[in-house]
Amino acid sequence: MEFFIDTGIVDEIKAAAKWGIVDGVTTNPTLIAKSGRTQADVIKEICAIIDGPISAEVIATDTVGMLKEARELTKIHDNVVIKLPLTADGISACHALSSDGIKTNVTLCFSANQALLAAKVGATYISPFIGRLDDLGQDGCQLIEEIRTIYDNYGFTTKILAASIRHPMHVRDVAMIGADVATMPYKAMEQLFHHPLTDRGLEQFLADHAKSQK
Ligand code: E4P
Repeated sequence: MEFFIDTGIVDEIKAAAKWGIVDGVTTNPTLIAKSGRTQADVIKEICAIIDGPISAEVIATDTVGMLKEARELTKIHDNVVIKLPLTADGISACHALSSDGIKTNVTLCFSANQALLAAKVGATYISPFIGRLDDLGQDGCQLIEEIRTIYDNYGFTTKILAASIRHPMHVRDVAMIGADVATMPYKAMEQLFHHPLTDRGLEQFLADHAKSQK
């Protein structure tokens, strides 16, 4: 399973990269806005830190505009993946980009049928937002299960990129289901390391070691 970090803050990416578990990065207009920098600048810097897929999202809402932005974004680095919204125009743009061999990430997916559309046009990644579904009282992980079943039924190669992850339980759940990728904020990634018994056990080992040195 691949881990992507979901942020536009370069310092978070640098810190997580040191752990050796980051395979790629996802950003979105909200995350880029939080960085206070331009998308091009942030993406350029991220590409120099992580050698893996880096998603950069288009702002245009029409196919022609999306394709124009995609062409500019792909000039930044070979690892840039074009993130497109799951709308009719986004799917149409995805079809055109897939035909040109450009990697895509179809975002804002909230239903299995939407994921089916993205797979049909050859999206590289589909991003179902599980946390936002949970926020509405729906079951985000159930959506991941449905998409896994449908993609396996037909042998679609589009990768399931579980997004809008809020906490470590989401990571465990989507890993159990068989999502190909989990993208998560720095905080959730950092939380994966922790267990109170690990801390307590280590404390005990160190105390016993110190005693044995006296
Ligand atoms: C994914 O690519 C999105 O950037 C992200 O996971 C959205 O998550 P949120 O619901 O926490 O904003």
